[in-house]
Amino acid sequence: MPRVVLLGPPGSGKGTQSEWVAHSLGVPHLSTGDLLRAAVREGTKLGLEADRFMREGRLVPDELVLAILGDRLSMPDCRDGFLLDGFPRNEVQAEALDRIAPIERVLSFEIPESALLERLTGRRSCPKCGTVYNIHTRPPRVADHCDNDGATLVHRSDDHEGAARTRLEVYRRETAPLLAFYAGRHVLFPIDATGAPDEVAARIRRVIG
Ligand code: AP5
Repeated sequence: MPRVVLLGPPGSGKGTQSEWVAHSLGVPHLSTGDLLRAAVREGTKLGLEADRFMREGRLVPDELVLAILGDRLSMPDCRDGFLLDGFPRNEVQAEALDRIAPIERVLSFEIPESALLERLTGRRSCPKCGTVYNIHTRPPRVADHCDNDGATLVHRSDDHEGAARTRLEVYRRETAPLLAFYAGRHVLFPIDATGAPDEVAARIRRVIG
């Protein structure tokens, strides 16, 4: 039963790789960032509480994230496995996950921090179809418009430089210690996340088979 986590700093490419990885493992892709952004858009109580933490680049409190993820994991499509992207992000979350469903593989995206700020501040996405662009490495054909449907691209509120720097610092302080946590459980698989998306995908393929 594939229960896999993609772990890596903001901008390391987890979202870019997650759809095909989930598809090839035959499991749903669960991104806590996406679940939280959907709650913010829908204006739920949880979304309203999470919004200010996300805008500032801070972690949303554990009880809110565990509530939203717990609901999702209890759905029938997660019975035979799942791919987690952006969860866990600290030791409290990792231990909670251990109690719900122990993880069999953690793919750790490794990339120098110097490459990440440009990826984050350059990211744009289509609000209609979800396609993700980057003004430096994957620009749309027409500036600020989606190649697929022409919609005006959006810049995530936490991708501005101030919030992006905070997210990198939060990763270093709260999430990076999980590398030792999972190495100790012998489930950590480092992935070199530098280079083009296809090169990264080929490295992942070698690990997941
Ligand atoms: P979340 O949405 O999870 O964001 P993140 O982890 O910070 O990750 P990103 O989506 O920024 O980066 P990514 O690694 O997916 O990179 P991507 O593939 O998009 O979380 C957002 C917020 O929600 C958090 O700050 C927190 O507030 C809250 N939150 C979420 N989960 C939480 C939790 N568990 N607990 C508490 N709070 C939580 O790529 C980035 C850019 O780079 C794109 O433009 C892409 O085109 C480009 N790119 C990708 N790969 C390459 C490549 N190989 N070469 C060149 N460019 C590339």
